[in-house]
Amino acid sequence: MQPLRRLRLLATGGTIAGAQTGGDSRGYRAATLSIEALIAAVPQLAALAAIEVEQVAAIGSQDMDDTTWVALAIRTQAALDAPDIDGVVITHGTDTMEETAFFLNLVVRTAKPVILVGAMRPATAISADGPMNLYNAVAVAAHPAAGGRGVLVVANDEIHFAREIAKTNTTQIGTFDSGHRGLAGLVNAGRLHLYGPPVRRHTGASEFSVTGLPTLPRVDIVYAHAGMGRELIDAAVRAGARGLVIAGVGDGNLSMVAVAAATAAVRAGVAVVRSSRTGGGVVERNIEINDDELGFIAADELNPQKARVLLMLGLTRTHEAAELQQLFYRY
Ligand code: SIN
Repeated sequence: MQPLRRLRLLATGGTIAGAQTGGDSRGYRAATLSIEALIAAVPQLAALAAIEVEQVAAIGSQDMDDTTWVALAIRTQAALDAPDIDGVVITHGTDTMEETAFFLNLVVRTAKPVILVGAMRPATAISADGPMNLYNAVAVAAHPAAGGRGVLVVANDEIHFAREIAKTNTTQIGTFDSGHRGLAGLVNAGRLHLYGPPVRRHTGASEFSVTGLPTLPRVDIVYAHAGMGRELIDAAVRAGARGLVIAGVGDGNLSMVAVAAATAAVRAGVAVVRSSRTGGGVVERNIEINDDELGFIAADELNPQKARVLLMLGLTRTHEAAELQQLFYRY
């Protein structure tokens, strides 16, 4: 019999570790249960892999921030660099899971499986989704074929690429969607069906890494809307943002007055990326807005929150709009 593959499970909190606070089915507190308690609830894991655990954080993912990202990336890389570790599973809240997954996808160097997993229902809920999600995540991480695909997210019997996944529903367990590019695979009670490969550079081929990662620059997201003024863009620049992502209407568009504010931001040395609030499609250069003339960057396929992650990392390397634009075509 083959020896079990060895995984390190890094816990950060989220609803998967959440517990209900009262007798009704609504209120709960995220990040309540320890990782040991989560594992104890799924004894079947012992047949899939030998698992060692590390609690990196115990937070709801709305509180995930740059400092925790860097700490998590360092712990993830340390686990992956250990010769006796075959893969990493990270438990995480679903709210900002896509951002953390994409961040790790850009900074960890590995061909081993790295799987993020969460749950929409707290561990104490009727029909909690966490135990099966955790079982499936461990099954994927323990499978050699799951390596070399970048960071993956497992939830609701689906496997998602970090670059493609987005949370699309406030409460339903089928919240995650991978849009135009589609799923990385399916996992049915631990049985893998892998699709792919991922379309853009990731992990081992990424130019970013946790080694010597400087403090990440401030990048703010400004949401466009009918009647958009310039005040929030001006305020972000005044507050010290080095980059701005516009969650633009339609094809990454914004009002004339907001364009004027964004142009002033570019002239003040702030990188401005146009993404879209629509949740789908590609923001291309120079369609309705003359990006070449105004110095803007088009987000290509990245939603605003992922464009922010790439811009933060990109700004640690360059402030040239043309070079930053190339990153949006590469990742
Ligand atoms: C969180 O993101 O930490 C809370 C929500 C969830 O995990 O589903």
